[in-house]
Amino acid sequence: MTDDVLLVHGGNPLEGEIRVRGAKNLVPKAMVAALLGQGPSRLRNVPDIRDVKVVRGLLQLHGVTVRTGDEDGELILDPSHVESANVADIDAHAGSSRIPILFCGPLLHRLGHAFIPGLGGCDIGGRPVDFHFEVLRQFGATIEKHPQGTYLVAQQRLRGTRIELPYPSVGATEQVLLTAVLAEGVTELRNAAIEPEIVDLICVLQKMGAIITLGTDRTILITGVDELGGYNHRALPDRLEAASWACAALATKGDIYVRGARQLEMMTFLNTFRKVGGDFEVDDEGIRFWHSGGELKAIALETDVHPGFQTDWQQPLVVALTQATGLSIVHETVYESRLGFTGALNQMGAHIQLYSECLGATPCRFGARNFQHSAVVSGPSKLIGSELVIPDLRGGFSYLIAALAAEGTSTVHGIDLINRGYENFMDKLRDLGAHVELPGELPAVAAGEPSGELVDA
Ligand code: EPU
Repeated sequence: MTDDVLLVHGGNPLEGEIRVRGAKNLVPKAMVAALLGQGPSRLRNVPDIRDVKVVRGLLQLHGVTVRTGDEDGELILDPSHVESANVADIDAHAGSSRIPILFCGPLLHRLGHAFIPGLGGCDIGGRPVDFHFEVLRQFGATIEKHPQGTYLVAQQRLRGTRIELPYPSVGATEQVLLTAVLAEGVTELRNAAIEPEIVDLICVLQKMGAIITLGTDRTILITGVDELGGYNHRALPDRLEAASWACAALATKGDIYVRGARQLEMMTFLNTFRKVGGDFEVDDEGIRFWHSGGELKAIALETDVHPGFQTDWQQPLVVALTQATGLSIVHETVYESRLGFTGALNQMGAHIQLYSECLGATPCRFGARNFQHSAVVSGPSKLIGSELVIPDLRGGFSYLIAALAAEGTSTVHGIDLINRGYENFMDKLRDLGAHVELPGELPAVAAGEPSGELVDA
């Protein structure tokens, strides 16, 4: 599909200002939370991304009225008439997102049953949902798996329970929260994920009337209530998108002001950004990120659950590390296959070697299992434009960064995937002066700059 291909003419710094809105990893979940209320909810700062559209469609199938509000980026969600959806209609959403699994608890509370289609999401590891189903069983749901999806039934009101997650999974923690708030009695969750998006979801649920205590040592205590109301909430900003633009500034020797970015949720990223040699300045409206002009420095980096270095920051940063002097070591401990995207960077001229050993301070779950989850990045490398096929959301944006940092023209296939999580990324790229063109378009090139070759559409 020609629409899905982008020509990127690299070699120019990205400069200017863009804005990030609500977090992709919060907004769709806050939309699901609206299902739990007796009255309408108002969600603000909603980005125009595919995951939001998918969840909107699924909510509407279940009788929730979803309309845009008066404010830009505002959604009004009214769950007054929740009803069962046609399985074939739900199934049409199969493979489009990972969010449908979070409908389980709310639908079990509202209808006593739920059907969950096969899940989508990025191919960055096995991404099982065993924790989710185990948790739901503990609440009292019965679960039947079928080839087209999973049927869940609650014979009676779900009951609060004690849960210890084998790993602090973001999704499984959200599953517990969205189920426990209306369950009978108290739920104690141990080894919970505490990402800022989860804390924001807790704020949403508290506004609805839930009683949730965020304890020490990854413990969350939820006291079930009989009924919840609607909420009025402004979603926290997307710290993952903000960091992607920061890495784009670093890799292209640019200077980008990210309006909407907030320091609090990005502290760990900001420390690493500074260690690599990037500069930043925080003000009340956003964060300016820029390349300081000197050599970038190699670092040792390990991804982890919050408050560690977020796995979604890893891929864009690796592109910047190809421009750092020396050997950087990256240990990916959250997803076993999230370094697969580096093959294409090597094809562009990077020097990245993958290892199945844990090259970090802490041995992780993947060490003895032959997954190539550690990388040594040797730099700086001159990147050359290439033919690239986008493998996943963050890897895809990272390819755009690499193509923009590279000399010459890259042809990037599969750019539609980036719409899942990056709002208006084409407009933003152009606002920052990127030379990008869709095949068939006239080249958008600044005066005096050489244009790239147009390929046949
Ligand atoms: N895991 C299991 N079993 C489960 C659930 C998770 O083994 O039932 C494992 C996973 O395989 C993985 C680890 O636990 O190794 C962490 O997975 P987690 O459940 O935390 O991830 P998720 O909820 O599926 C969300 C984000 C991801 C983000 C991770 C980690 C959404 C929609 N997705 O995924 O975002 O990387 O948390 O913070 O919120 C992205 O934005 O590009 C993205 C992939």
